[in-house]
Amino acid sequence: MEAKRTLQRLCKVQILRLLVLIISLVVVLIVLSQLITFPYKTYPSILPPATKGILVQGVAIYNNTSIANKQGLNESKVEGCNGYDCNHGSLLSQVAMSQNNSGEASQIAAVALEPTRLSYMVSILESTVSTRFSKKKLLSARERELKRALMKIENGPMFRNTEGLHGSLYHNLSRFLRSYKLMENTLKVYIYKEGKKPVFHDPKLRGIYASEGWFMKLMEKNRKFVVKDPKKAHLFYLPFSSLKLRHTSQEQTPKSRKDLELQLKNYTSLIAGKYPFWNRTNGADHFLVACHDWAMKLTKDYMGNCIRSLCNSNLASGFKIGKDTTLPASYIRSADDPVQDLGGNPPSERPIFAFFAGGMHGNLRPILLQHWQDKEPDIKIFGPMARDIESKAKYRMYMKSSKYCIYARGYEVFSPRIVESIYFECVPVIISDNYVPPFFEVLKWESFSVFVLEKDVVNLGHILRSIPNRKYLEMQKRVKMVQQHFVWHKQPVNFDLFHMIIHSVWNNRLFL
Ligand SMILES: *[C@@H]1O[C@H](CO)[C@@H](O)[C@H](O)[C@H]1NC(C)=O
Ligand SMILES: *[C@@H]1O[C@H](CO)[C@@H](O)[C@H](O)[C@H]1NC(C)=O
Ligand SMILES: *[C@@H]1O[C@H](CO)[C@@H](O)[C@H](O)[C@H]1NC(C)=O
Ligand SMILES: *[C@@H]1O[C@H](CO)[C@@H](O)[C@H](O)[C@H]1NC(C)=O
Ligand SMILES: *[C@@H]1O[C@H](CO)[C@@H](O)[C@H](O)[C@H]1NC(C)=O
Ligand SMILES: *[C@@H]1O[C@H](CO)[C@@H](O)[C@H](O)[C@H]1NC(C)=O
Ligand SMILES: *[C@@H]1O[C@H](CO)[C@@H](O)[C@H](O)[C@H]1NC(C)=O
Repeated sequence: MEAKRTLQRLCKVQILRLLVLIISLVVVLIVLSQLITFPYKTYPSILPPATKGILVQGVAIYNNTSIANKQGLNESKVEGCNGYDCNHGSLLSQVAMSQNNSGEASQIAAVALEPTRLSYMVSILESTVSTRFSKKKLLSARERELKRALMKIENGPMFRNTEGLHGSLYHNLSRFLRSYKLMENTLKVYIYKEGKKPVFHDPKLRGIYASEGWFMKLMEKNRKFVVKDPKKAHLFYLPFSSLKLRHTSQEQTPKSRKDLELQLKNYTSLIAGKYPFWNRTNGADHFLVACHDWAMKLTKDYMGNCIRSLCNSNLASGFKIGKDTTLPASYIRSADDPVQDLGGNPPSERPIFAFFAGGMHGNLRPILLQHWQDKEPDIKIFGPMARDIESKAKYRMYMKSSKYCIYARGYEVFSPRIVESIYFECVPVIISDNYVPPFFEVLKWESFSVFVLEKDVVNLGHILRSIPNRKYLEMQKRVKMVQQHFVWHKQPVNFDLFHMIIHSVWNNRLFL
């Protein structure tokens, strides 16, 4: 009897000890999981080795980088311009330079540029996804929510209801719809309150850089995604305007680019000191939306780890597929009516075969003009048009009554023309090597637009005329269908530009 009781007591003690051990183990594990930061300090270099000298972080895309490095060519020399306002990665800038036999320029003839094709961009994206996925072991609550969403996106059933969207426009409509729905149900964004006007919290809603302003305005008043408690957020928005940063500083005393970069650095130091979130991921779950030409460079050093939604999505000057996303540039004339004048003539009432008008920025446009101005009666290629109201109306009239609208790059790879041609239902012809088109992770751009390499601009007429009319009609129909993704609304509606931009950021966040 006595022995049995002692045994029972012993058992109880053992069980108690075991319990205490288990509890303390759990506590230690919880503490550890809070202490360990996630292993996404820097964005990995993800390019497959087979890409012959593609230099995503560097200057241009060469097929043999070592030649460029050996000759000590640096950005300004290679491009023949001053760093910021350049023809980055343009094949024609190379050709033009190699034809110029003065001094250093002639050395560059040895380096040939190979532009990146759209199909290759898609394959880079896919390889990014497979290398970045499933790296982490310890997940926070927010990470687990994202991971669950990702699992559902990857493995969910086919979506029956296509919400009126047409499969031919997307790489995988069912996948896109699932991702979109899960974004609506899951995603929470925190907006930092810090930052002074006019650079922060002060959107500009008109002009060619208006996209960043519209996004900021709509995001700051959004109720669906925005949370007050940063602990609930999967993404952190850095609410500044690259346009205001550039111009406000200039108005006062002309500031160097370094100063502008320092303003951003000061901002990240401020939020990193005040909140735990920046340091936790080194900014990788933070995002910015910026349209100015300089934004890519200005954010390179101090916000380079963030998800950047940039208009200047040039693969040859630092845009990182899988991390950064393309912000469509859209020229907004009226802040009250961002979709003024939307629409265009039906195909049968588009007598002009191809149209372009614009300033002679960069090297490509002069060549376009030289070869195509006044060559064929239904190909209308003009230099700059006047900026008065009548000329602007005339420009829109041309877009509304042309079959193909040429988008030839200027100094930079982007311009509002692509969105304009979509608004006016004209099939875009994109001649801008290394430009990553907006939402290409979702949209099948080849199904509603034509891509022509810069070097092929001399064959433009032949290339376009060899497209069968049946195919043109199909593309034109799809341009009309894709329009909804490029339109701003004062009150955002499903699948509009505001939601598509968030979706592109969400998409990259999922694979962080
Ligand atoms: C690139 O150029 C260097 C120097 O000319 C040469 O040694 C190397 O083999 C080349 N690499 C490729 C991949 O062509
Ligand atoms: C690169 O360009 C800078 C000016 O932008 C110049 O100071 C430097 O000497 C150049 N480097 C080489 C290796 O030519
Ligand atoms: C050739 O290069 C020189 C110096 O970089 C420049 O001044 C000149 O305008 C160039 N010529 C042509 C035809 O581009
Ligand atoms: C680079 O690629 C171009 C086009 O594919 C080719 O003609 C050229 O010979 C290549 N140059 C080098 C250095 O590999
Ligand atoms: C679309 O993606 C899903 C995975 O999300 C996959 O199961 C399906 O096969 C894909 N459909 C096509 C047409 O590629
Ligand atoms: C950044 O912050 C430092 C110290 O807080 C200040 O001296 C400097 O003027 C700031 N620079 C800019 C560009 O705002
Ligand atoms: C984040 O890191 C910076 C630099 O290492 C440090 O100054 C700052 O105090 C850290 N922030 C927090 C909230 O610990």
